[in-house]
Amino acid sequence: MSYAASYKQAHNQPTVFWKQQAERLAWFKTPTVGVDTSELPTGRWFRDGVMNTCYMALDHHVANGRGDQVAIHYDSPVTNSKSSLTYRQLLEHVAVFAGALRDQGVGKGDRVVIYMPMVMEAAIAMLACARLGAVHSVVFGGFAAAELAVRIDDAKPAAIISASCGIEVAKIIAYKPLLDEALDIAQHKVPSVVILQRPQLQAILHTGRDYDWLQLMAQAKAVDAVPVKATDPLYILYTSGTTGKPKGIVRDNGGHAVALNYSMKAVYNMRAGEVFWAVSDVGWVVGHSYIVYGPLLAGCTSILYEGKPVMTPDAGAFWRVIEEYKVKAVFSAPTAFRAIKKEDPTGQLLKNYDISSLETVFMAGERLDPPTYDWAVETIGRPVVDHWWQTETGWPICANPVGLDKLPAKAGSSTVVIAGYDLHILSDEGHLMGDNNKGNIVLKLPLPPGCLVGIWGDDKRLNDAYLKEFKGYYSSGDGGYRDSDGYIFIMGRTDDVINIAGHRLSTGEMEEIVGAHDMVAECAVVGVKDELKGQLPIALVLLKAGANIDEAQLASDIAGMLRKTIGPIAVLKSAHIVPRLPKTRSGKILRKIIRNIANGEDYVAPSTIDDPASLDEIRKLLMG
Ligand code: COA
Ligand code: AMP
Repeated sequence: MSYAASYKQAHNQPTVFWKQQAERLAWFKTPTVGVDTSELPTGRWFRDGVMNTCYMALDHHVANGRGDQVAIHYDSPVTNSKSSLTYRQLLEHVAVFAGALRDQGVGKGDRVVIYMPMVMEAAIAMLACARLGAVHSVVFGGFAAAELAVRIDDAKPAAIISASCGIEVAKIIAYKPLLDEALDIAQHKVPSVVILQRPQLQAILHTGRDYDWLQLMAQAKAVDAVPVKATDPLYILYTSGTTGKPKGIVRDNGGHAVALNYSMKAVYNMRAGEVFWAVSDVGWVVGHSYIVYGPLLAGCTSILYEGKPVMTPDAGAFWRVIEEYKVKAVFSAPTAFRAIKKEDPTGQLLKNYDISSLETVFMAGERLDPPTYDWAVETIGRPVVDHWWQTETGWPICANPVGLDKLPAKAGSSTVVIAGYDLHILSDEGHLMGDNNKGNIVLKLPLPPGCLVGIWGDDKRLNDAYLKEFKGYYSSGDGGYRDSDGYIFIMGRTDDVINIAGHRLSTGEMEEIVGAHDMVAECAVVGVKDELKGQLPIALVLLKAGANIDEAQLASDIAGMLRKTIGPIAVLKSAHIVPRLPKTRSGKILRKIIRNIANGEDYVAPSTIDDPASLDEIRKLLMG
């Protein structure tokens, strides 16, 4: 079906369209119904379907002749090791590890936190949870103990799975002390901790609570996939919002499997047996959807890469992996390509590799700036698809649907709206914007399969964070416009969320941390453009009366506090001491305007501004 026909059918006959997609998967009981909005305006899909995501992703393929095909290649330049598991081998590992988790008391509906580096066992742990009907919550390894503790207290896991260490280029990051600290901070007491001991570092295990992965595996027996309802949760993935408390995005089993399987063909043009490489981390939604579940549901071969685009060992790393595994489609964040461009601007290293298997390059996670787009197209010599989505949706909202039609690309645009989504651009007052006019990007409810079905333990927050602002719509938090050809341009967040090197973080949370400095009276943290990482935070600080600290010391203190509380990925660009912060007469800090000034963008001072001169001060300070 063409893109236009599929978009039209998904719009006019969503039940027919999505039931057809559902039928492509191996259900225990195939659903007969589509979306139900009686309890949730975003919709619950396939209510009467019974299934197991792990069964669909592994058992089904083994039973249908795919057992000897590689399911996942693990490629780790940082440990100088590689391994591969076929679908049959992966199923064996997952079934036994599910048995090990069951022996630890984990059952259907229980939560399991996974805090792991990019090792094969991370994918095994996720799939084992799915097999048991348990709900995993993967926490990115670059988050500090305090962030992990918040997630432990929110998810209240029956078990945590972690590893002794991660490896960042040449640095060994000891995970266990971070985990122990998080467990100390957390109120919730976790009965069982499973540790994968890596050869690079042995962790100390606490008797009675900590268990060795290999020992548990040696004692465990394989278990079958547990039937779950399509609407049962598969995972919780925490993402940054506007405050310090992350939002636990809940994804169900049925809608997720159907949407991902659809996207593997329609968006990524992948067929069973082909090799797909998402260069991300299992701690992010890209890792969930397109390192683990999407490729496996579609019967593809996936790659789990424990390395960087540069430095491991050089800017030729991507091309080496593409050649070695005959990758058909690669997906990463623009920042990764900017890092490669910086090291190897003319693509000399690419000449050492045969990347003829590569058909398309996909980028997401942050805005793909036209210079990076142009460089990538020219250097790699392949179509580059910028596509837009979020943790909340779990799969692309906008893309060039190259598996259906290869539409002409436009630099700066993530092309068109994918079938199933009904996208509109609204003014702040909720009026539809005309072509080429910027506004808030919203999705008309209900949402297609695969999107969030709640915020863990906080139904009200789903409404407050996403549904309240524009009645009848999901508010994406992104701004942008549609041109007269129907192409969508995503221009950036309209809220306090920033993307540092494709990592989504909250400037609201950063403000809370900076505000805790004992010399800080008030502050504003905003994201500014950065050539390599896309965005970085700057802090504008109003000191307490009598405080005596210079800007360099303040910046160093703040950088340390962000690193300690959020993690090393929260890199501060700069800190500035200001005499006052621009505010409205009611006392609201004008963060959006500060952001505009810091980025050299146009802005209009609101009529409600308390003191217009405060804006000039900020402009002089930041722009010189
Ligand atoms: N565990 C522990 N620490 C981590 C980590 C992890 N999983 N990931 C990053 N860090 C640490 C790094 O070691 C670094 O620490 P340092 O300050 O002590 O050196 C810090 O966090 C910042 O790391 P990073 O953001 O990776 O910056 P970098 O300067 O080391 O590398 C890039 C720059 C562009 C190469 C890197 O950011 C990159 O690969 N980006 C692509 C990101 C991506 O794929 N995102 C996926 C979203 S789709
Ligand atoms: P995350 O939930 O971590 O995937 O981050 C989602 C956010 O990243 C979106 O809301 C956007 O702000 C940004 N983003 C993701 N993909 C793109 C893209 N292709 N273009 C512009 N911004 C993007």
